[in-house]
Amino acid sequence: MHASVYIATSLDGFIAGEDGDLEWLTGADPGDSDYGFAEFVASVDALVMGRNTFDFVMATGEWVYGDKPIFVLSHRPLDLPNGFPGRAESMELSPHAVAAECDRRGLDHVYVDGGETIQSFLRAGLVRRIIITRLPVLIGSGIPLFGPLRADIDLALVRSTPYENGWIQDEYEVVS
Ligand SMILES: NC(=O)c1ccc[n+]([C@@H]2O[C@H](COP(=O)([O-])OP(=O)(O)OC[C@H]3O[C@@H](n4cnc5c(N)ncnc54)[C@H](OP(=O)(O)O)[C@@H]3O)[C@@H](O)[C@H]2O)c1
Repeated sequence: MHASVYIATSLDGFIAGEDGDLEWLTGADPGDSDYGFAEFVASVDALVMGRNTFDFVMATGEWVYGDKPIFVLSHRPLDLPNGFPGRAESMELSPHAVAAECDRRGLDHVYVDGGETIQSFLRAGLVRRIIITRLPVLIGSGIPLFGPLRADIDLALVRSTPYENGWIQDEYEVVS
């Protein structure tokens, strides 16, 4: 299994403000692009999502992952509503154990989402690609995308795509 990250950040590197505030992202005008999101989701076999991100997604009332299997990392059972359109299951496993489970199920390419979850998969050396869409806003504090590492992770810039509204999408490959 190998993992990819697809995420939006403020220019100062946060994925959410204090208390998970996302107004800087959801309230911004995205223009008429989906920033490659649909194509990216189509390219993965499954998602691994932290519980906080899953709860946020559920609260939006929108489901954008079709019938892709979703493994929600959590210490608690999921409370899925009647008529839930997706395929989600709770897992309490380390990144390497999640990877082994994906391998067992024949799931090769996984979309990893959520700050804590992304950081743990990076530390485990399981992330191969990172796509970051940066918004031109400074929010000062909140939940950072990146965190402590045991060793440097070298990246190669694959492309950098500016959009008319000032958003910039960078794609990196992990090289070590
Ligand atoms: N800007 C963006 O594009 C973007 C994208 C995604 C998310 N977000 C935002 O980022 C915030 C969420 O990020 P986050 O850093 O708080 O964390 P997260 O990774 O979404 O969730 C962390 C939680 O997942 C559970 N967890 C993580 N690893 C686990 C493991 N190995 N085993 C069992 N449970 C595990 C724990 O929950 P429990 O112990 O409570 O079960 C932990 O508190 C939300 O505000 C979300 O809206 C923004």
